Amino acid sequence: MRDTEIGSALLAWYDVHARDLPWRIGPAESAAGRRADPYRVWLSEIMLQQTTVAAVRSYFERFTAIWPDVGALAAAEDARVMGEWAGLGYYARARNLLACARAVVSLHGGQFPDTRAGLEALPGIGPYTSAAIAAIAFGRAETVVDGNGERVMARLHAVETPLPAAKPELVALAHALTPQERPGDHAQAVMDLGATVCTPRRPACGICPLRPMCRAHAAGIAADLPRKSPK
Ligand code: ADE
Repeated sequence: MRDTEIGSALLAWYDVHARDLPWRIGPAESAAGRRADPYRVWLSEIMLQQTTVAAVRSYFERFTAIWPDVGALAAAEDARVMGEWAGLGYYARARNLLACARAVVSLHGGQFPDTRAGLEALPGIGPYTSAAIAAIAFGRAETVVDGNGERVMARLHAVETPLPAAKPELVALAHALTPQERPGDHAQAVMDLGATVCTPRRPACGICPLRPMCRAHAAGIAADLPRKSPK
């Protein structure tokens, strides 16, 4: 019951406050059953693996202007792709990006696989990225937990176990919260809440849609969570 309430409050908040990001479709479209383009979701998730949303945005716009679909990217020259990637860092990602685009074309006729297992068989796609693509592009009820999600779960449920030991518990809590309906919007709502409201320092509890359900807020310890083991 509590999980359903949290899920509904999150989606209602996302419908109004979702960040307008170029790889997303709007929440109204999404609520109507449309899905974001798997190519754009995949490309954004690879770019976001070690890079902030603010830094990724212009790279994403440039890449999709030059290579609007996976077939175009698969046919690109390696040097051109590496050149456009310059500045994003972690160049293994760019090499895997090309290898993945070519595998999608040669093995899957240009269609991204729609399951986590199928996605993880491709270069550069691990468990986090496969869950994100499966949820956002294919509407699968997969649990996507990044650092934002860990923080939101730790606070909602007042988990005092420090990271990294708390990780399995936080993933289980996130899993229990993952809805069958709009799982991609749910995942992105947690990301947006963590990035804009439930921030690491000085969380904006005053404007948080989950404040009435948040155990850390009730205990006055939201800003202290998640705890971290001393290095
Ligand atoms: N970080 C990783 N994936 C993201 C997404 N889809 N939206 C915002 N931030 C993200």
